[in-house]
Amino acid sequence: LVRFFTPKTLAGQHVVVSAGPTFEAIDPVRGLTNLSSGKMGFAIARAAHEAGAHVTLVAGPVALPTPRGVGRINVKSALNMQRTLQVLAQTASVFVSAAAVADWRPVSAAEQKIKKDGSGSVPALNFVENPDILAGIAAQPRAVARQLFCVGFAAESQDLQAQAQVKRVRKGVPLLVGNIGPDTFGQDENALLLVDEQGTTELPRAHKLHLARQLVAEIAQRLPVGSV
Ligand code: CTP
Ligand code: CA
Repeated sequence: LVRFFTPKTLAGQHVVVSAGPTFEAIDPVRGLTNLSSGKMGFAIARAAHEAGAHVTLVAGPVALPTPRGVGRINVKSALNMQRTLQVLAQTASVFVSAAAVADWRPVSAAEQKIKKDGSGSVPALNFVENPDILAGIAAQPRAVARQLFCVGFAAESQDLQAQAQVKRVRKGVPLLVGNIGPDTFGQDENALLLVDEQGTTELPRAHKLHLARQLVAEIAQRLPVGSV
């Protein structure tokens, strides 16, 4: 019923959504990841499909079912995710970066499982910063020309409104979505703060699918007229 009554505001659009955490290998059996459940990104993919878009979901390691009608590409590391998204960004018209990309990865992954050496000494792990996938894509000519509309997310632990606006400008995106926490990881509900050039709009606490539908409507409104 919802699908029947939802206006097809994204008909003809190709929407790419990233979701979930990334996994940065330390050795063949261990890695660095985070608590992102992927639920918000999957809900956005579903809502974009309901709104008539062709949707590609680029998912880090999560155990969620693929929304009906959505194409899914599974990735692991931030570098995997970046390569996949950069290709899709060449033809997409909307990119929603909901993934919780690990900020750092081990400099190199050990080829064999790291063993205890019996002396009680611990392995030294060295990290390197991952590329900023969203900022890289937002700086590409198609995004600058608004042929590709980029949307970022922000997880902040304090001063969300100001931090989100700073982050939006730093990333070079027209729209940034702040999670009004605390502790939205893994929950079915959330509240969102939308930050754009005009200012901020709050989407009050609701189920993530409801918020995703509202966010999709907000994105559709901001697309250039006749962009299909
Ligand atoms: N992001 C990304 N690549 C990264 C880190 C983040 O594409 N290496 C994207 C996320 O998908 C999100 C946005 O950038 O849409 C903001 O992520 P966030 O972690 O809040 O910001 P950071 O730039 O990583 O800054 P910090 O974590 O230090 O606040
Ligand atoms: Ca981060």
